[in-house]
Formats: sequence, structure tokens, C-alpha cells
Amino acid sequence: MMSARRCNVMSTSVNATIATLPGDGVGHEVLPEAIKVLDAIAKRFGQQFEFVPAIVGGAAIDATGQPLPDATLDIAKRSDAVLLGAVGGPKWEGLDYSIRPERALLGLRKELGMFANLRPAKLFPMLADASTLKLEVLAGLDLLVVRELTGGIYFGEPRGVEATPTGKKGFNTEVYTTEEITRIARVAFEAAQQRGKHVTSVDKANVLESSELWRQVVIEVHKDYPSVCLDHIYVDNCAMQLIRDPRQFDVLVTTNLFGDILSDEAAMLTGSIGMLPSASLGDKHAMYEPVHGSAPDIAGKNIANPIAMIASASMMLTHSFHLVDEANAIENGIFSALDQGYRTHDTQSPGCTTIGTKEMGDRIVEAILKS
Ligand code: IPM
Ligand code: MN
Repeated sequence: MMSARRCNVMSTSVNATIATLPGDGVGHEVLPEAIKVLDAIAKRFGQQFEFVPAIVGGAAIDATGQPLPDATLDIAKRSDAVLLGAVGGPKWEGLDYSIRPERALLGLRKELGMFANLRPAKLFPMLADASTLKLEVLAGLDLLVVRELTGGIYFGEPRGVEATPTGKKGFNTEVYTTEEITRIARVAFEAAQQRGKHVTSVDKANVLESSELWRQVVIEVHKDYPSVCLDHIYVDNCAMQLIRDPRQFDVLVTTNLFGDILSDEAAMLTGSIGMLPSASLGDKHAMYEPVHGSAPDIAGKNIANPIAMIASASMMLTHSFHLVDEANAIENGIFSALDQGYRTHDTQSPGCTTIGTKEMGDRIVEAILKS
């Protein structure tokens, strides 16, 4: 697996510089909780994390006119890992695409070459009743969406809106090269080797030529991973199977657009999108962020669920710094807080104690320091 390990990593101790980009909305509430948790990890395990804050998204547009200012990009490039909250909000929705908050995310992904997005969806057993699906469909759910992140229709050219004699025409291009498919397929097979040894490649090869190539290349790359079982599924069927019987999947590998859609669907299987972390990895850089957005409707109320952000920090410890014990301590801290019956607003349930964003962070910190 790739990593962004440019810091001074010894067997048990790191001195890491982490760019912290809260962004907009609830990003400002959940990111401080992840920092609090990392400080607790540093204290318990003797690690050193230096946090370098920077503005991004709508906040950066307000301050500089640009969603991804050069200074922020520079901080991100010079860090050992990036932690990002979320970007966007109604205030900036009317802006031209080229300067919308979302461009910052796309810009960071592209500029830092982070082509592989890992989105694990795992069911915490005590949250099963927060999901809209039945427990017998979900019990034991543990899947990983591997989403290609720097190609496909998100970045394909030509793109635009043009005038034609009969009215306007809007267009985008889905494009994948052998090289792009090969490297994301390798990430998926390597992840599967560490898990259930089963990769399902998601495409639309019955309609799209780019999907036809996707499927051929995945089959070719699979030859290097004989211990992993590979199958293929059309994206429409995959959307259905995720709801019908999600435990048939181990690792799903797919394109940028399909992965965007299917990972939101996978998130809801776990009860709340507020639970889902992600890692965006490249050859040199890595960024960790919750799958959820800036949630402007609940921002500033101390009710957002910080667990996706905190679990993203745990993914950072694993993927960027190879601090497996420390990552496990975070996972156990999350489990312990939930097991004691603490819930945030999105996962509240009868008999449980509903607490705020900060308080959930506190409970997880307590569990980490106690164990
Ligand atoms: C995500 C988000 C982004 C995406 C948006 C905010 C650009 O939905 O990370 O899934 O579409 O990739
Ligand atoms: Mn999305």
C-alpha cells in the first residue's frame, strides 16, 4: 500500500506535521475533536504531532476569493498528511464552478496526486437500529469502497456548456487510461489481500466503452493476485445488491463517479453518514476526511457526529504513519463510547444518552486515556 510517509518514522515513534483544514460548516466542529483525540494518542503513546491549520473551501473564498489558495496548497504539500473537515454551503452555491468550494477538494486531490480513495463501511453492532435496513441484512457488515479519485468524468475533457443554434449544450467526458485503471486495481487487490480476498469491480460495460477497457484491465491486473477472487458487476445492479445483501461484498473497486454514489449508499448501511471515514492516497501524499459534507443545516449547534472525522484520523495513523496500536486505540475508544450508550443526534436511540459533538470527543478521549 502506498503511503505518504515522509516524516521521521521509527519503529514506534513519529514526529509528524499534519495540515489541518476545517473548511466549512460542521468541519469547524468535527476537526477539533479529531485533533483532541490525536493529542490524547500523542500523550498516551509518546508520539509528536504538529498541527498546521489552513483555510479551504468557502472560508477561503471569503478570505481570498479562491477556494484553494496557494498558501493552503503549499501547507498541504509540505505536510506529512492532511486532515480535512468538509467544504461547501448555500452561501457559495451560486458561484461559477471554477471557484466553488468543491473545487478545493478536487484541486487538492489532483495536485497531490491522491488517486485512490478508501471508504470503509463497517457496522458497529450497537448502531444496527440506526440503519433503515433490517439487522439480519446488516449484522457483520464490513466492506471497503475503493474509489478512483483523480480521473473519470470528474476531470475528463472536453467539458463545458456551449451555445448551439438550437439552444445550449452541456457536456462532460468519462475517460480512463490503462495506467489509471491499473493503479487503482492494484490498490483494491492489495487491500483485499489483507481482508476477505474478494474484489468486485463495478462498471457499466454493457453500455460504456470506457467501462469495457476498465473491465479488461482489471482482469489483466488480477493475474498478479491469484489469492484474490474477482468478479464484476454493473453499477445499477450493484446499487440494488448493496441494499438487498451488502455482506456479499468485501472490496468494491470503481470509477470516480460510481464510487461517489455507491459510497454514500454504503454509508447509510452503517446507520449514519456521520460514521464513515475516508483516506485519499497517492504515491507521495495522503488526505483524510469524513465522507459526510459540511451539513450547513446543523452547523454551529454542537450536534454533528465527530466519529467519521475521528475515524479518519485513525486511518491516517494506519496508512501514513503505520501506527497500528495507536489506530486501534482510537477504534477501541469509539467502540467504548458507543458501547457505554453515548450517541450523537444522528444516531440517537431510546435508552441511549444523546450528547453533543464536543462531548462525544471527550468520551472517546477518556476511553483512550483510560485503556
Ligand atoms: C465526496 C464529495 C465530493 C465528490 C464533492 C464535495 C466534490 O461528494 O467526497 O464524496 O463528489 O467527490
Ligand atoms: Mn460524495
